[in-house]
Amino acid sequence: MTSNADTTKPSVNLNNLILHLHPRRIKAPTLRFTVTFGLGGMAALLVVIQVFTGLLLKFHYEPSPDNAYNSILNLQQGLLFGQLARNLHHWSAVLLLWTTFLHMLRVLFTGAYRKPRHMNWFFGIVLLMLVILSNFTGYLLPWDQLSYWAVTISTSLLDYIPFIGSSIRESLLGGKEVDAASLTNFFNLHTGVIPVLMVVLMGYHFWRIRKAGGVIVADKDKDEPMIDTYPHLVARELVVALVLIAILFLLGSLFDAPLRERANPAISPNPAKAPWYFMGLQELLIHFHPFFAVVIFPVILLLAGFWLPYIKLTDNNQGIWFLSENGKRAGIYAFLAGLVMTILFILVSDVLPDPEMLLPFIPSLITTGFIPFLVAAGGIFLFLKYLHGKFSLNRSEYIQCVIIILVVSYTVLSFTGILFRGEGMKLMWPWQL
Ligand code: HEM
Ligand code: HEM
Repeated sequence: MTSNADTTKPSVNLNNLILHLHPRRIKAPTLRFTVTFGLGGMAALLVVIQVFTGLLLKFHYEPSPDNAYNSILNLQQGLLFGQLARNLHHWSAVLLLWTTFLHMLRVLFTGAYRKPRHMNWFFGIVLLMLVILSNFTGYLLPWDQLSYWAVTISTSLLDYIPFIGSSIRESLLGGKEVDAASLTNFFNLHTGVIPVLMVVLMGYHFWRIRKAGGVIVADKDKDEPMIDTYPHLVARELVVALVLIAILFLLGSLFDAPLRERANPAISPNPAKAPWYFMGLQELLIHFHPFFAVVIFPVILLLAGFWLPYIKLTDNNQGIWFLSENGKRAGIYAFLAGLVMTILFILVSDVLPDPEMLLPFIPSLITTGFIPFLVAAGGIFLFLKYLHGKFSLNRSEYIQCVIIILVVSYTVLSFTGILFRGEGMKLMWPWQL
């Protein structure tokens, strides 16, 4: 209970809200910024900002092909702070994707995906998908050339999923092409279904954190004293929140959310690119058979994600970023290898003749699927074997190196797609695009 004389305690209501979201007392070492980098809290704040700015936009936005584009123009030009509201929604969506992704990496690196936190890891994967889906469904709403064709390209990838892919695409779009029904579906998903699911799952996520006794603590800190959440943790959270809001306002004031010409289903831009977070996938499609890029790789990744908490470890990396100096060094090697191997792979695959033309009698699933897959997987495997020999890594360090290679590879693929692919998706310098 609070008393008027006690100024270090928040009022009863605020206290209740804070303590619903936090344990009353926490281990002192978890206050260190480098334990979590505040990323989960930032993601939570960004979702709140998305809902708030989204509701503001919804007052003015009209979800029909005839009116959507004009309603955005009107919002930007005719409404006080309309452009700013749109910019804030745009930039906080970008920041949300980044913070959620980085939060997942921090959970991976500090071994926080293991029991008793495994349920939060599983539902975290679902949360990440919802964040991607909310970005994707929002992308169509301005109904300009950029959004129309990006959604056309991205949803066409679903056709490569055997048996069910086309049906999923048609249900999502409400027909065979992106049209009025698609805009209605995307609008309802974006402003109704997805935010509700996210808020519910976030509630569960926070409850599980409390149930696990707060965020992860390294073994060496287990006997450290407990301290009050308020004011120690809350004051730090407030600082992170204010800095994040300042960055968001800076971005929103300096850079406008993109808006091209009104969508024209008859004229496809060349090249037609997917949204930035799917560009790695679109780049992958240039080098691999679509079945591998759209089905095999994502399924392997997803299965690996669900298997991860059950891999037996001989060491305990919980709450520790790097277990040893050797692990750190191996991480740097993995980073450099991911960078060099992916760039080489892109360049070599670009100059090699098209395998389908060269060997027309062999199914393309083998020439552009199995063979490049074996080359890439074999290359990674041999490199990891070399790292293991050189640094005598333990299992969690080994897992870290695999994660580093995958993240660096996807980043290089994305940058290549965004910055180095011009007309006809040919490789060129950014200033030639
Ligand atoms: C996690 C939650 C959300 C994310 C990640 C998100 C993301 C996005 C994105 C990327 C756009 C395209 C903006 C652009 O042109 O760059 C957008 C547009 C829009 N969003 Fe959201 N949004 C979220 C929640 C909401 C909510 C809860 C609402 C309303 C209740 C909403 C309403 C709108 C509207 C009306 C637009 C069209 C206006 C525009 O494009 O500027 N959003 N959203
Ligand atoms: C909208 C998305 C998300 C929000 C708002 C969110 C929020 C949070 C917060 C506030 C924490 C505690 C503080 C911190 O670790 O920074 C946390 C912890 C955690 N999150 Fe998330 N999270 C999200 C997505 C994810 C994703 C994508 C994953 C993994 C796939 C994940 C897995 C976890 C796990 C395992 C913990 C416990 C970590 C520990 O105890 O050290 N979360 N989350």
